[in-house]
Amino acid sequence: MEKRIVCLAGDGVGPEIMASAKQALEMVERLYGHHFYLQDELFGGAAIDGFGQPLPPRTLTACLASDAVLLGAVGGPYWDHAKERPEQGLLTLRKGLGVFANVRPVSVEEATAHLSPLKAAEEVDFVVVRELTGGIYFSFPKERTEEVATDTLTYHRREVERIVSYAFQLAKKRRKKVTSIDKANVLESSKLWRQVTEEVAARYPEVELEHLLVDAAAMELIRNPRRFDVIVTENLFGDILSDEASVLAGSLGMLPSASHAENGPSLYEPIHGSAPDIAGKNKVNPIAMLRSVAMMLGQSFGLRKEGEAIEEAISTVLRSGKCTADLGGNETTTSFTKYVLQTMEEQALVGRGR
Ligand code: IPM
Ligand code: MG
Repeated sequence: MEKRIVCLAGDGVGPEIMASAKQALEMVERLYGHHFYLQDELFGGAAIDGFGQPLPPRTLTACLASDAVLLGAVGGPYWDHAKERPEQGLLTLRKGLGVFANVRPVSVEEATAHLSPLKAAEEVDFVVVRELTGGIYFSFPKERTEEVATDTLTYHRREVERIVSYAFQLAKKRRKKVTSIDKANVLESSKLWRQVTEEVAARYPEVELEHLLVDAAAMELIRNPRRFDVIVTENLFGDILSDEASVLAGSLGMLPSASHAENGPSLYEPIHGSAPDIAGKNKVNPIAMLRSVAMMLGQSFGLRKEGEAIEEAISTVLRSGKCTADLGGNETTTSFTKYVLQTMEEQALVGRGR
């Protein structure tokens, strides 16, 4: 199989995890006979330095023409006062690709369950489906004077319908439960959200639907996260709750994400940020990025076996006690990646009966 992947390393630890991702892709090429054309493009703060804007037109054009986009991380204090911040580039990229469905799986590795603030954490297994191209991030008016600032939270019926339908489709393939999170006791947008969610649910009688208010959901994520299978929620709630949920896994450095459009390439990125405090120190945990690669292989290219090989290798290395500092270990980004690659190779040889 031949695929074209645009690689946006971005800022902070982005280039370090992108290097790990590329090595994993090279290993997949070698072990399974595929070919990936990797095209690097400037994005985020790096693009502000080079072109004066975080998402230069050629970067967006390349992404739109790709089979999938792999992103490291953007942002950092250096660009805090830039005319356009690196984060704005990420929002424009999401909108430009139309990736409305952000999928953030949360599960806990047996080997790292003791790092979770939760008891019996390995039973946690849910997916946050976050609406990614609407809501308060993108609605107008959005304005600020010295005295008053305004953000607007708008949702259209069709935006709610497509993200909630996505969540139900996903739940059908899992434990058949959707938890829709809103603030319908206060917000008009949430009232529409809830109404449309009910309508969509009627088309999936085999899937259970529950509604939770966002404040109660924040509590339940800590109190009883095992109750969740598929969570669906609007953009800002999803941003906040997915960071909260990531702590259950023991480290923010573990969790990947995929963002899908109705048509066109998907975007894959770790849910963690650019971590400027550890950038360039060979310290960052590459797992979230390697898992994002695994999601890309499975979800965009249908290469499930290859994606699972990466996942399995990560679990094997963790079980052997090797991990990076965020998980209490002393492996570096490069040494941990090397162990994962070696394990992929060994597991492939065993699989072929050699
Ligand atoms: C995320 C990030 C972004 C978001 C920022 C960097 C704009 O926090 O992907 O969760 O809020 O969506
Ligand atoms: Mg976030």
